Amino acid sequence: MTVQLRPGDPITVDVALAGRAYDIVIGRSLLAGLGARVAALRPGARVAIVTDDNVAKQHLAQAEASFAQAGIEASRIIIPAGEASKCYAVFERVCEDIVAARIERGDLVVALGGGVIGDLAGFAASTVRRGVDYVQVPTTLLAQVDSSVGGKTAINSRHGKNLIGAFHQPVLVLADTALLDTLPERIMRAGYAEVAKYGLISDADFFAWLEANWRDVFAGTAAREHAIAVSCRMKADIVARDERETGDRALLNLGHTFGHALEAAAGFSDRLYHGEAISIGMVLAFAFSARRGLCSPADAERVVRHLAAVGLPTRIAEIPGERPDADRLIELIGQDKKVKRGRLTFILARGIGKSFIAPDIDVADVREFLTGQLA
Ligand code: GLY
Repeated sequence: MTVQLRPGDPITVDVALAGRAYDIVIGRSLLAGLGARVAALRPGARVAIVTDDNVAKQHLAQAEASFAQAGIEASRIIIPAGEASKCYAVFERVCEDIVAARIERGDLVVALGGGVIGDLAGFAASTVRRGVDYVQVPTTLLAQVDSSVGGKTAINSRHGKNLIGAFHQPVLVLADTALLDTLPERIMRAGYAEVAKYGLISDADFFAWLEANWRDVFAGTAAREHAIAVSCRMKADIVARDERETGDRALLNLGHTFGHALEAAAGFSDRLYHGEAISIGMVLAFAFSARRGLCSPADAERVVRHLAAVGLPTRIAEIPGERPDADRLIELIGQDKKVKRGRLTFILARGIGKSFIAPDIDVADVREFLTGQLA
């Protein structure tokens, strides 16, 4: 794949939802211009910035300065960093603080942070005053290529992750790729698993490009913007044709059935970040596809090789701490996904870039496969 890479102008990706289309703007050092973009999009609007205490230390001052410069009144809502904030108590606090900040319909909530902030602030925006608009300013690679795009918002329930939520599309996504310069390597790598996922779903050329160029994506040259733009374009296309996940959007769950079970087994802790679980999950999805004769062992091996080269875990044995057995993983898969008469839906692959929805997979076969993987 030959790609002309020039640093410079931001790249705009359109999410073409009828009546609710919005732009994802991708480029370096865009945060300074956030206020001007919001002023142009919603003249006269007030904003409430929702962020966490880590992101606030690094980026809040710049975001607030950009609003001040654009003459926009901005209030701030700072919550503790981490997955534990996706709970009823913090959700209530964010909603009350948005109301207290006198955010009306016509004003905006701004989610400045990673996936937790985007999910929580987006869900709060979907409910306060029966729905106010919001802007996503994702500050992690994972949020820039996945969670900030497509309108899935949620908090966690005691019964599982993301069970209380709404589809609520943002009115703008501003992905400042320079914000990734200060991300810890491990978090950057975890986000990269979702970038590789797009190649594995339906773009073999992009996967080959990543194999050759991933170091530049990490280094922050124009390759980073290109990788984020390709990822967002694919997600935008899928969301535009299946916003509510009645069909193709499920493809975005490649690696997620195994991945969510592994995350749950690790207690949704920093033993295993979401993207790391997805890395192992995608390897398992390809190995399972190869075992069923759907894809070649060489393709499954290529997936392992690339993810391992990047420094992502590719085997269950790499997860630190106590290892779950196959029965426990099957139980966790059953909590996450509907099992109908011993069968469930998986995303499998006929090769690199040839993923598909397999609706009728026998759980007993998955158990046997996992037993082999854990031996
Ligand atoms: N992260 C999967 C989706 O947005 O559908």
